[in-house]
Amino acid sequence: MKIMDSKEIRKLFLEFFENNGHKIVSSSSLIPTDPSVLFTTAGMQQFKPYFVGEKSPYGNRVVSVQKCIRTSDIDEVGDESHLTFFEMLGNFSFGDYFKKETIEMAIEFLTKKCRLPGQKLWFTYFSGQNDLLEDIDSKNFLLENKISPERIFPFNKETNWWGPTGNEGPCGPTVEIHFDLTGKPCDLKDKCLPNCKCGRFVEIWNLVFNEYYQNQTGELSLLKQKGVDTGMGLERLVTACQKKESVFETDLFEPFVKIINRYDNPVKQRIIADHVRSAVFLITEGIKPLNVERGYILRRLLRKIFTNIEILELGKDKIYELVKVVIENYNGIYPELKQNGEDTISIIRQEAEKFDKAKEAGRKIYDKIKESGLTGAYAFELYSAHSIPLEITQEWARRDNKEIKNINDFYKLQKEHQEISRAGAEKKFGGVGKGASLEAIKLHTATHLLHASLRKILGDEIKQMGSDITPERLRFDFSFNRKLSEQEIRQVEDLVNQKIRENVMIIKNELPLKEALNSGATAFFKEKYPDIVTVYSIGEFSKEICAGPHVTQTGDLDNFKIMKQESVGSGIRRIKAKLSL
Ligand code: ALA
Repeated sequence: MKIMDSKEIRKLFLEFFENNGHKIVSSSSLIPTDPSVLFTTAGMQQFKPYFVGEKSPYGNRVVSVQKCIRTSDIDEVGDESHLTFFEMLGNFSFGDYFKKETIEMAIEFLTKKCRLPGQKLWFTYFSGQNDLLEDIDSKNFLLENKISPERIFPFNKETNWWGPTGNEGPCGPTVEIHFDLTGKPCDLKDKCLPNCKCGRFVEIWNLVFNEYYQNQTGELSLLKQKGVDTGMGLERLVTACQKKESVFETDLFEPFVKIINRYDNPVKQRIIADHVRSAVFLITEGIKPLNVERGYILRRLLRKIFTNIEILELGKDKIYELVKVVIENYNGIYPELKQNGEDTISIIRQEAEKFDKAKEAGRKIYDKIKESGLTGAYAFELYSAHSIPLEITQEWARRDNKEIKNINDFYKLQKEHQEISRAGAEKKFGGVGKGASLEAIKLHTATHLLHASLRKILGDEIKQMGSDITPERLRFDFSFNRKLSEQEIRQVEDLVNQKIRENVMIIKNELPLKEALNSGATAFFKEKYPDIVTVYSIGEFSKEICAGPHVTQTGDLDNFKIMKQESVGSGIRRIKAKLSL
C-alpha cells in the first residue's frame, strides 16, 4: 500500500469530515483574540463563542487544520514527539452530534481512511473524580465499536479532562486515542500503558466533550448545549501513517534533518528543526524578537537555534537554508510564509547580529578568565550579564580543552537568581522586581490604581496586557478596542488621584493561587503563577496577584497624570502616565 505524505493526510482529514457534513474553516492566527493567552494552542480557540451559545456562521459542524504554538512543551523538544509549532486537525460540533458519533467517526477515520492497524490504537476515558461521574457513555461507545476492553483505560482529571483555555470557558471529559509506536512494553511490562513515559505510546487524538463551563473562579456549571472539540496532532498522525517512530522521521521534517545532517546529535538536530518552524511562523504573524511576552518567546527560540548551530559547527548561514525549507514545505497551504520570506530572513539576520555582538563581548571576558580558572560562578556571570547561554561557555571550554570547575555553582546561582529571572515575569505581571528605586515602586502602585480605575470606568472586561516602568513614567497596556475620550481619560485620572488623597493602606497577603482567584484578585497570565501567590489589596478598590513591591499607603504617591494614550495593535491600548508634585 502506498504511504501517504503529510499533504495527502491533511487533505484526507478535511475531506472525510466534509463528507460527514462539516464545513471547512481556515486556521486562525497564532495570536488569539482572547487576551488571557499568549498564543493559539488549540483548534477550538477561534470557536469558543459557538460552544457557549453564540450562533456559528459556519453551521454546527466544522473541521479545521489549526496552526498552534505550545511554549509549555519547549523544554521537551528533542524527544520523539514534542514540538513547539504543530498543526492541529480538529472536528467540532456546536450542539449537534455528541459522544457516539465523535467516537465512531474517529475510529472510522483512523482505521478505514488512514488504515492504521486497530490493535495499535489504545483508548483512555475519564474515570470520574470528586463530584464528577465516570464517563461510562464513552467507554460503552468504544466497546460498541469493537475496541477490546484490554485497550481501554480510565484516567483521572489530570489526564482525561480538557479546558478551559485562558481564564474561563467550556471544558469537559475526554477520550484520548494513543498510538502504539513500537509494540514493545518497557520494563513496566503489562503496566506499560498509554501515558507511560517510555516512548512506546504517542497520544494522537484528543476528543473533548464540552459539557461544562468553568468560570474565572474555577466553578463548573452545565452548558446548555453540548459540544465536541477534537484535536489531533498532524505531525503525530503522519508519524503513525508513515510507520515511523518519531515525528522527525516524517516527510514534514526529513528535509530539515537532511540539511542539518547531524544524526550523531539527534536532540540538537531536532531542537533546531522544531524551533526554526516556530520562529518562521511567529515572524510571519508580525512578531519581533523582544524581551517581553510573545517577542521574548521568539527571541528565546532564535537564540536556542543560534546556540545549537554554533555547537554543531554548522555554519551561520545554515539557518537561512532551513527557513527556506519551512516556506517550501507549506507552499500552497500557508502562502503568507513565502510572501513574508524576505522580511523573515532579515529579522533573523538582525537578531543573529545582536547575538554575535553579545557573544563577542562575552568571549573577551571568557578569554580573560579562562587562564585564571573557569568556574560555574563565572559561567553564570557570562549568562546573567552578557546573555551567554551556559551551553556556549561549555562549548568554548571544550574547544579550549578546559574544564568548568564547580559547575553546580551555575545552577545554584541560577536558582538563587530566580528572583531576577522572575523579574522578567514580574514585569509582565506588573511587578518591578527587587531593588527597585522608590520612584519605580511608587509608579508600580500607581499602575495598580490605574488598572482598577480603568476597570471601574470602562468595564471589567479590561485586561492587563503588559506593563513597564522606567524612573520617569509607567506604561500600561490593556485590552480595549477604541480610543478613550478626553472625558474618560480625565475620569480615570481623577479616580486615581482620589484614591491617592484617601491615603489607603496597601495590604499584602500570601494565598494559594486558587483562593486568590476566588477572592476576585486579578491575575495576568494565570497559568504562569506559582502555587502560593502574593496578593496586594488597596482597600476594596484594587486586588491583584503581584510580586510587589509597593508603597505602604497610597498617600505616598504624588499627583497622577496621564501623558499619552495610543494603540499598540488591534484591540490593545497603551497609556503612559507619571507622578509629579
Ligand atoms: N482542544 C483539545 C486539545 O487541544 C482538543 O487537546
